[in-house]
Amino acid sequence: MATAQTLINLENVTKVFYTDEVETHALSGIHLDIQKGEYVSIAGPSGCGKSTLLSIIGLLDSPTDGSYVLNSKTVQGLDFSERARIRNQEIGFIFQSFNLIGDLTVYENVELPLTYRSMSSPERKKRVQEALEKVGMAHRMRHYPSQLSGGQQQRVAVARALGGSPSILLADEPTGNLDSRNGEAVMDLLQSLHREGATICMVTHDTRFAKHAERTIHLFDGKVVEETEAEQYAASSPSS
Ligand SMILES: Nc1ncnc2c1ncn2[C@@H]1O[C@H](COP(=O)(O)OP(=O)(O)O)[C@@H](O)[C@H]1O
Ligand SMILES: [Mg+2]
Repeated sequence: MATAQTLINLENVTKVFYTDEVETHALSGIHLDIQKGEYVSIAGPSGCGKSTLLSIIGLLDSPTDGSYVLNSKTVQGLDFSERARIRNQEIGFIFQSFNLIGDLTVYENVELPLTYRSMSSPERKKRVQEALEKVGMAHRMRHYPSQLSGGQQQRVAVARALGGSPSILLADEPTGNLDSRNGEAVMDLLQSLHREGATICMVTHDTRFAKHAERTIHLFDGKVVEETEAEQYAASSPSS
């Protein structure tokens, strides 16, 4: 049930892709609530609909059917520019392949989403610096992405996602392109952001990493088949 603390509310969300006379039912009847401050992971085998679900939550795609309420605002029916504005302000995206822009510096990459807002240049500078400090990358501000390791690039991508103070961080297989040491470092970073109050929804097929979240939604064939709570959080969570 949606409450004042509910940030994300999906009801009966369906997504069908139509290609060359083939219908792919990527999502079927998804119900999902994410509360402010929660850390949720979405797990399941390849092709089960994880990225599709995250794209819908992040307003990169629209459901075929069903309703989506983000921060008390119904998002279906909004036009392109309104969706883009909400995405820019409410959503911080972290992708598997980092998606940094190669000919922009670390600083410029983190600043870029802020330039689409009416924000003074000193305010942007302050936010970029704070975000880079948070991920431990302030000392690489003038570097280009190609001069950084994969783990460092992903930390910059996290800073870019954080710079706009989004309502939620969405991460799609954020450790997928990293070796295990860098992967753990990025997971530790997400966990510390969560402890500081960030709301996070992370997609992963790696069950070790799924356990970092408070709650895991297990998807199979576009349906939620199970929900599990991580042991380290279960003891402290209020009964409902
Ligand atoms: N743009 C698209 N067009 C057609 N089919 C798609 C598209 N995106 C995803 N699919 C299909 O939807 C299903 C779910 O895909 P996806 O959400 O990417 O899964 P996951 O992230 O769990 O691996 C798959 O069968 C995939 O082939
Ligand atoms: Mg995927």
